[in-house]
Amino acid sequence: MPDYKRIFEREADRYHELVAYEDWRNHLLGAIDNVCTLRPELVAADIGAGTGRAALLLATRVGSVHAVEPSLAMREKGLALARAGGIGNVSFHEGGYESLPLPDGSVDLVFEGWSLLYFYRLSLPDWRKPVARAWQEMTRICKPSGVIFLAETLGTALERPVRPDFAVPLYDHLEKELGCSHKAISTDYRFQTARQAAELIGWFFGEETGRRAAERGSPVVPEWTGVWWKKTQ
Ligand SMILES: C[S@@+](CC[C@H](N)C(=O)[O-])C[C@H]1O[C@@H](n2cnc3c(N)ncnc32)[C@H](O)[C@@H]1O
Repeated sequence: MPDYKRIFEREADRYHELVAYEDWRNHLLGAIDNVCTLRPELVAADIGAGTGRAALLLATRVGSVHAVEPSLAMREKGLALARAGGIGNVSFHEGGYESLPLPDGSVDLVFEGWSLLYFYRLSLPDWRKPVARAWQEMTRICKPSGVIFLAETLGTALERPVRPDFAVPLYDHLEKELGCSHKAISTDYRFQTARQAAELIGWFFGEETGRRAAERGSPVVPEWTGVWWKKTQ
């Protein structure tokens, strides 16, 4: 397995190069909008925001976005992207699921993408307490009648969505114990060339997934994403 801690702390540029090619049909924003109509009155948060790819997208549709991310390199990259794009309504905050640096009831939409599963995986096999803390923190910062919206992987370079074995306890927990609604969407990558697709996919997801991407011989690589959501009371 690639050294993700190292990637998130030292290779923010390459990480962003990869994710910038994801979801070329822009399905994620549509899926969020179906659950929580995006509009300028809303305040959003993106937890484990990385280089802010989702935060910067959300910022085009809501009033402001708080991007919370523990890695300095990721936050710096996100800030540079926001400045380069003239996007002034995203702020980056140091922090993580353990303790979110936002006040109680301050956010209408709490989004996370591909960071809760990473956080869960780091805490295996004793994931229940950290995940309960993460959910408690997301609920705490959410306004009454707000929405918590999660996006996590259902597979890369596969023909159909598949829950990775290690993720099944988390996904079951979200659905059966926390009562989240859910569905699968496609957030395919479209790289510039097939070679670039194989290289970047292999670098981040490991040899086997890189080989599957290479065998396709295409700049387009299927990515399946599960989305889970819950409205707060
Ligand atoms: C796969 S990346 C996803 C980044 C971003 N959400 C995106 O869509 O590109 C996982 C992110 O989780 C962050 N992370 C690591 N530990 C965390 C924690 N305790 N709380 C929140 N995020 C964390 C990493 O630094 C990394 O940026």
